[in-house]
Amino acid sequence: MEFVLNGGAVDVPDDGMSLLDVLRERLGIHSAKDGCSPQGQCGCCTVLVDGQPRVACVTPARRVAGREVTTIEGLEPARRDAMADAFTEHGASQCGFCTPGILMRLSALSANATKEKIDQALLAHLCRCTGWQTIEEATRALLSHPGDKPPPGGAPAEVATSARPRTGGAQRRAELEGGVAQRVGPEVALGGGGFAEDTAPPEALVAVPTSDGGWATGETLAEARKNAGKVQGRRTTIVPTHPLDVPEGNWDVTLRTTWVEPAYLEPDASWCLPGGEPASPLANGGAFGGKANSIAPQAAKRLAEEHQRPVRVVLSREDTVRLGPKRPPIAAGINRDGTGVIRVVRTPGIADAIHAVAPKLVVEEIDVAGPPTSSAIRAAGWAEAAVLLAAVNGRAEVTAPNGARAEATIATDGTVTVHVSAGRPLDTTILRSYCIGATHMAIGWVTSEGIAVDEEGRPHDLTIRSFGILRAKDMPHVEVRIDEDDDREPINGSDAVFAAVAAAAWLDRGLPTDWPTERGRTP
Ligand code: FES
Repeated sequence: MEFVLNGGAVDVPDDGMSLLDVLRERLGIHSAKDGCSPQGQCGCCTVLVDGQPRVACVTPARRVAGREVTTIEGLEPARRDAMADAFTEHGASQCGFCTPGILMRLSALSANATKEKIDQALLAHLCRCTGWQTIEEATRALLSHPGDKPPPGGAPAEVATSARPRTGGAQRRAELEGGVAQRVGPEVALGGGGFAEDTAPPEALVAVPTSDGGWATGETLAEARKNAGKVQGRRTTIVPTHPLDVPEGNWDVTLRTTWVEPAYLEPDASWCLPGGEPASPLANGGAFGGKANSIAPQAAKRLAEEHQRPVRVVLSREDTVRLGPKRPPIAAGINRDGTGVIRVVRTPGIADAIHAVAPKLVVEEIDVAGPPTSSAIRAAGWAEAAVLLAAVNGRAEVTAPNGARAEATIATDGTVTVHVSAGRPLDTTILRSYCIGATHMAIGWVTSEGIAVDEEGRPHDLTIRSFGILRAKDMPHVEVRIDEDDDREPINGSDAVFAAVAAAAWLDRGLPTDWPTERGRTP
C-alpha cells in the first residue's frame, strides 16, 4: 500500500494497522505520540491527511492509500520552527508530549481564526501540564502576526518569534516544578523530549502487561497487544463514589475526595538491553509524581535478561489506569482551631505528609479495596490538609512543607489570581507556566476529576476523557504574580499554588463536602 509521507512516497504492508502504528512502528516517525490509542481521545497523534487534521490512532492506514500524510517533520521548516519558538517563548510546552499533535492541528488553522475557532481546535486535545492558557497565548501570537497564512500542510511563513535562548535557570526552574529532569527548548515542542517509547532500539522485543499480571511479547506493538488479548477499555456509567466516610463528630468543615487518576499524557514506557540499565520513564516529565514508582523499568530489565535481547515495555492508557497509583482518597472533619480527624486510604508516607502542614489533625489510615495509591503524587496528603485549614480560615493561603507560599483568589468573573513565592524565580516564564498548569489541575481536582472504582477495587473509567481533566474552554483566565524579591534558594512553587487554588475553588463554591463538586461537566 502506498501513500505520500512528508512529500515522499512510502510503501507499507496493507495488514490492518492503524496509521499511528504504521508511522511509529514501521516508519520511525516518533513525533506522533501514543497517549491513548486506540481511544482517539487525547489528540497526541494528530497528523494531516490531505491537509486536514486527523487522529492517527483511529485512522486505519489503508484509508490513507494514495493520499498525502504530513507529520511535524513535513511542515515547512520556517513555519514549524516559528510554532516551536512561539510555544517555547510562552512556556506553552512542558513535558511536550501533547505538543506536536496540537501544533499539527494549529497548522491547519487560518490566520484570522477567532478565539472560538482556537478553542474549538483545542477541544480535540488534552494537556495535563500547561493549563491551556500559555498554549492559547502562543497560538494568538502566531496567528496575529502579519503574513502568517498557513494553508493546510503548513506553508512558509515569516514569523519573527525566535525563542529567547533559554538559560540554565529555565531548566532548573522546570526541574524544580516538574520534579524530574526536564528539557526546555523548541525541540521539546516538536516532540523531541526523549521519551523512552521513542528512543528504544527498533529491533527491541515489545512487551505489554496482561490482565493476569504477566507480560505478553511480540515483534511489534500490535502483535504484543494481540498476544495479550487486549480488549479496549471504556468509560463506565458507574458514578465515582467516596470510599471513606467522614469521621463522626461535630465539625466546622467536612471533605470527602474520591480516586483521582494522575492522568499524565505519556503512558509509562521503558526499554533495556540485556545486562544494561533500563531507560527512565521520566525522560521529560515525571507526571507530577505519578510515575515515581513505575513498573516499566524493572519489567524491561527483567524481560531483557529473560529473552537475551533488547526489550521495550509499553503500557497502554488502560494499563496505566489499572496499574498506576492514584491520589489517596480522604474523608475529614476539621474545626476552626485546626483540630480534627482525617481518614485516608492507607498509603506509605501519607501521615507524615499531612502532619507537615497540619500537626493537630489526627490521621486514620484505612484499608480499602482499590487501585494502588501513592504519596509521591503531587502534594498528596499535605494539599488536602492545607485545603482544610484554608477552608476554616476562609482564606486560600498556603505554606508548603518546603516553605513555598501561595495565595489564590477567584474574582466574580472567574479570573483566578495567584501569588507565589518560591525563592528566586530563575525564569518567570517557566514558573508562570507551571503555576497556570497547577491551577488547571487544582480546579479539575475540586470540580470534575475522579474515576469509578468497583467494590472489588477495580477502576472502571479507563478512557482518558473519563478522568475529568478540564478542557481548554473550561479554564478561567489566570493571573500569576510572582514574588521576584524572594531571594531564598529556588524551591518548587507550583505545588503550593495547586493547594492554594484548590482551596480557593472550594471556598468559591461554598465548601460542599464532596469532591468533585461538578462531576459531569466534562465529556
Ligand atoms: Fe501537554 Fe505535558 S505539555 S501534556
